Amino acid sequence: MSDFVNNFWSVYVSGITMVGILACLILLFVTARKKVVSDEDNTTGHVWDEDLRELNNPMPRWWMWLFIITVVFSLMYLAMYPGLGSYTGKLQWSQTGAYDKEVEKAKADLEPLYARFTAMSTEDIAKDSQAMAIGERLFMNNCAQCHGSDARGGKSFPNLTDGDWLHGGTPDRIHETIAKGRIGMMPPQAEAVGSPEDVRNLAHYVLSLSGSPHDSVKASLGKSKFTTCAACHGMDGKGNTMLGAPNLTDDVWLHGWGEQAIVDMVTNGKMNQMPAQEGKLTPAQINVLTAYVWNFSHKQGSAN
Ligand code: HEC
Ligand code: HEC
Repeated sequence: MSDFVNNFWSVYVSGITMVGILACLILLFVTARKKVVSDEDNTTGHVWDEDLRELNNPMPRWWMWLFIITVVFSLMYLAMYPGLGSYTGKLQWSQTGAYDKEVEKAKADLEPLYARFTAMSTEDIAKDSQAMAIGERLFMNNCAQCHGSDARGGKSFPNLTDGDWLHGGTPDRIHETIAKGRIGMMPPQAEAVGSPEDVRNLAHYVLSLSGSPHDSVKASLGKSKFTTCAACHGMDGKGNTMLGAPNLTDDVWLHGWGEQAIVDMVTNGKMNQMPAQEGKLTPAQINVLTAYVWNFSHKQGSAN
């Protein structure tokens, strides 16, 4: 558990703690035995403000006991809980352990609430307003940092509301994407295409596929080079959801629009990852999120 490479600091901390406790006890016994010299009238002989005298009574018993109990308590505490360097304590208590237990308890408490979503179809969950409210919270906590709180994504993070899918928009495909994660991988293609001029011409051909502004002479020169791309994006450029290859004929651009963006894609390639949620979220939570995401582009009426 210790972050240190050797146990010097562990011994150092334990030593100071134990010496401190021992010193407290010694101080108690020494002062309890020693009687300050006093006058016959049992005062210390100090006088303030003309007639204020200090009595020299022994420490009250209850105070002594309180002191001893405190010392005994601290020794017991140090035996049970981590406090002496890297010694973990008899109870094996730890902050991470306590946190894990709390998380487990929260999951167990939520189980009955989620239970009905384990067997329901995506379409039915999407019609359930309670499920959609839960889905929204789950999305805010787990997905919004990448896909945006409105799920419209951003550069390199896909928009989940537009009905345009890299990996497929059926309930099964969305569920698989969320549970197992996805890696979108386009290897660099420039060498296969040819010279930088060829790549530029090809970029104009790709722009022409979506009817975007382009140079039609360059596009017709680049057309034949598209065979390199067809293996993944399809001969017609409409993409392939099994490979996560985007449709190049629509006007949706994950990595930016225009000649330069396409030249960069072809030259450098791209690796883009959606992290797997299995293990982090329960199966029922993944079901709810699948329906929440699916519902954006297949409105079921419950969410407005
Ligand atoms: C660390 C950032 C990150 C987080 C967090 C994240 N995603 Fe993603 N997600 C991505 C990226 C990047 C892609 C695109 C992968 C690709 O290019 O193939 C993606 C793709 C997807 C897709 C596929 C989109 C398509 O067009 O096929 C879905 C669905 C999705 N995410 C849902 C979710 C949900 C639901 C969550 C929350 C549980 C989530 N994502 C959390 C980064 C993230
Ligand atoms: C091995 C499969 C494969 C080949 C071959 C391939 N691509 Fe891709 N391409 C992909 C994948 C997968 C993505 C999505 C990457 C991601 O998820 O971020 C992509 C993304 C793109 C994008 C970005 C689209 C957007 O929305 O921003 C462009 C443009 C592109 N490819 C053009 C081409 C061109 C032009 C060729 C031919 C020279 C080509 N690709 C060859 C797999 C491929």
